[in-house]
Amino acid sequence: MPKAFYVTTPIFYVNDVPHLGHAYAALGADVLARFMRGCGREVVFSTGTDEHGLKVEKASREKGFASPQALVDETAPRYNALWSKLAITHDRFIRTTDADHKAVAAKFWETVAANGFIEKRQYQGWYCVHEETFWPEGQLQQPGNLCPDCGRPTELATEENYFFKQTAFVERLRAHLEAHPDFVAPALRRNEILGSYLNAPDGVHDQSISRSNFTWGIPVPGDPSQVIYVWFDALINYITMAGWGQDDARFAKVWPADVHIIGKDILRFHAVLWPAMLMAAGIELPKKVFGTGLIMNDGVKMSKSLGNAIDPNDWIERFGADTVRYYLLREIPYGQDGSISEAGIVGRYNAELANGLGNLLSRSAALCEKNQVTFTAWVGPQDGDAELLAVAQGLHGRYLVAMENLAFHEALEAVNELVRAANKYTDERAPWTLAKDKSDEGRLRLAHALYCIAEAGRLCLTALVPFMPQVTEKGLANLGYPAGSLFDERGRNQAQPLPQLLAWGVLPAGLSLSKGEPLFPRREAAKA
Ligand code: MSP
Repeated sequence: MPKAFYVTTPIFYVNDVPHLGHAYAALGADVLARFMRGCGREVVFSTGTDEHGLKVEKASREKGFASPQALVDETAPRYNALWSKLAITHDRFIRTTDADHKAVAAKFWETVAANGFIEKRQYQGWYCVHEETFWPEGQLQQPGNLCPDCGRPTELATEENYFFKQTAFVERLRAHLEAHPDFVAPALRRNEILGSYLNAPDGVHDQSISRSNFTWGIPVPGDPSQVIYVWFDALINYITMAGWGQDDARFAKVWPADVHIIGKDILRFHAVLWPAMLMAAGIELPKKVFGTGLIMNDGVKMSKSLGNAIDPNDWIERFGADTVRYYLLREIPYGQDGSISEAGIVGRYNAELANGLGNLLSRSAALCEKNQVTFTAWVGPQDGDAELLAVAQGLHGRYLVAMENLAFHEALEAVNELVRAANKYTDERAPWTLAKDKSDEGRLRLAHALYCIAEAGRLCLTALVPFMPQVTEKGLANLGYPAGSLFDERGRNQAQPLPQLLAWGVLPAGLSLSKGEPLFPRREAAKA
């Protein structure tokens, strides 16, 4: 049975209203999932919500809910609603309150305990309620004993907890990172994990993995006075989805995950704690943990508490989901921090989509219609084609490598280079002048030039399918491919796999380019 391609997003805290920063990992995961489906791979794509913990318990009391469950039932669907507006094609929206997840988490705990890596200890430490984490004194920010992650004050607390003996795996984990340089990506994130944790003296501690000061969580097997620490619980979602402990055939097909896409602020949990947990349970490690950068608004991390979050619904309504998807992955190299703005999305849309690809397709469509040009099959290059062909033929390799490496900005840059080359070709060949020559030879010259332009446009649209599923379907329909005939609504290829479609000369004889409705009408920024 061929292995499925398994991609995950983090599971999101339910106490937040989703903003574009949250959507960032889901967008990358969706583009990758659609790309892999387009290549003919079976894909398993999971996302969901992280619903246990003290914060949820407190919030449910403060907001007057009958129970924490009532609160999470009300708030969890917000993410699913946003994902559907953004055309995210996950296979499952997993919630940590789902019955199968609770069973898997308990079984996982029992397995790790039976292997000797869980121990009950008396513990005193500095506890951050917000991060739900105990910190050793040496890691606090001073003055004020502040949490090193969120900067809020911590409290000295004593608990009898279960501990996960994470330190037992430091050597193996370090060796794994050495042997698998792509395990943590991009490279700067790998260096962070090595430098700050695995190679740092005292960089990794045994981890308290249970709590007794609240009850909203999965009970510790054999000790219902404690609940499982939220991070331990949450990370297990990735194997719940894969069927661990429940469905061996599914697990063999889905696990290991090909990539966990997460924000860099939760890298430590995914690149240290999670692999150590898997080693302790005797489960294979995921192939890759990819840490995205943070989305900033004017240089400050976007977050609800800072009040600078862009409402995704507003942008989706005004610019369309496709444009939001395109802009976020085009603007900032995946893996690095970067800012987004209203001026930015409007500027890129107008420059690259309206004036770039849109203009390329609409002016050649007008000429095809006016001169009733029907394409013949590709017969080979003519004088003046070399530059365009070189760029077009380079797209294939460049795009595929970039997509495999989650370098989405680079894949989109390759597309834009072809758009620019094709617009330049159009200006130089001036098909509107060629059209004046009504001789047979003149008509052939015109048809050849328009074929080259349409073929370049087809390549760009095809490469954009995972990024802009809706508009590319319309664009390809203008080229004569009926909607849904190349890719279905989840990006699965219906005819040839995506890489084959990225070859020059695939546009078949008998088609033409029609104008249809404009793909990228110009847009204005909202007046301040
Ligand atoms: N529940 C945990 C994750 C558990 S995964 C087993 C969590 N949730 S979160 O809702 O706080 O964050 C979810 C994801 O959103 C994280 O990857 C985080 O990095 C990401 N982002 C939240 N704000 C962000 C930006 N402004 N920019 C980019 N990503 C950001 O952590």
